[in-house]
Amino acid sequence: MLVVKTVEELKNVLFRVHSAGKSVGFVPTMGALHEGHLALLQQARSENEAVVCSIFVNPMQFNNDADLQKYPRTLEADLTLLQGLVDVVFAPSKQEVFPEPPTEKYDFGQLETVMEGTARPGHFNGVAIIVKRLFEWINPEKAYFGEKDFQQLVIVKKMAKQYKLQTEIVSCPIVREESGLAFSSRNKRLSDSELNLAANINRILRGSSIIGNPSVEAIKSFVTNELDKYPALKLDYFEIVNAQTLQPVETLKSAKHIVGCIAVYVGEVRLIDNIRYK
Ligand code: PAF
Repeated sequence: MLVVKTVEELKNVLFRVHSAGKSVGFVPTMGALHEGHLALLQQARSENEAVVCSIFVNPMQFNNDADLQKYPRTLEADLTLLQGLVDVVFAPSKQEVFPEPPTEKYDFGQLETVMEGTARPGHFNGVAIIVKRLFEWINPEKAYFGEKDFQQLVIVKKMAKQYKLQTEIVSCPIVREESGLAFSSRNKRLSDSELNLAANINRILRGSSIIGNPSVEAIKSFVTNELDKYPALKLDYFEIVNAQTLQPVETLKSAKHIVGCIAVYVGEVRLIDNIRYK
C-alpha cells in the first residue's frame, strides 16, 4: 500500500496503473474510517484491479467552523485499517488540495434547495469541488458512495451526468451497527449513552415503514411523535421525498421511489439517516 501526499505523486502512480491497463476503483473519504467505509472499499476491491482511497477532511463542505474542528481525525488508525484493502492512499494537506482559495460554483438546481442543502448552505458546492478535483486527478472507472448520505449520492450522480464524467458512480447500501444506528464518522463523538439514544433514529424510521394505512402525513406524525419521546434527540428535519428529484411528495403514490430522509441532533452531534418507503 502506497501512501501519497501530493497531487504530483498521485498522478505519477495513477499514470503507471492506468498505463498497465488496470481498472481503478475509488473511495473518497474524510477519514475516521468505519465499517461503512470498509464495505465501500471491499466492493471496490472486488470490482477493480486497483483501489484508491482518499482521506481528506474537506473544509469547503463545512458551514460551521466548530463542526470542522471537532471532526474526528485518526490518520494512523485509518492507515492500519486500509492495509491489504487498498493499493494507494491519497492523504493530502489542505494547502496541497487548495493552493489557492477555490472559486468553483456548481449549480444542482432543486436537488440542493432541500434538506442538507438548506440546513448546511454551501455544503454541496464544497462536496462537488473536492469530488470533481479528486476525479480529475485519479480518473477512476468507478467511484463508491454510501446511501447514508443519500442527497450527496444523488448530487454526485447529477454532477457526473452534467459534466459527462467517465467515472461510474456506484451506490452502496447503508451499513449499520447491531443497534441499527448507521455507521458514521460522527458516531465517534458520541458517548455510550448517546450511542444508545441515537439507535432510536433507525428504530423509529423502521417503525414508520410498517404503520398500517400509511400516508405521508401519518408517517411524518409517527416519526415526530416517537422522537418527541426522547428530549435529548432534536429533530432538524424529516422529509419524505422523490428518490430522484429529492422534492417532497404529497402522497406515497407520487413517485416510483420514495425515501424518508432525517437529520437529528444527538447532543451536539448531528446525524443523518434515511429509509426507503418504496
Ligand atoms: O461523504 C464524505 O465523506 C465526503 O462528503 C466526501 C465524499 C469524501 C467528500 O469530502
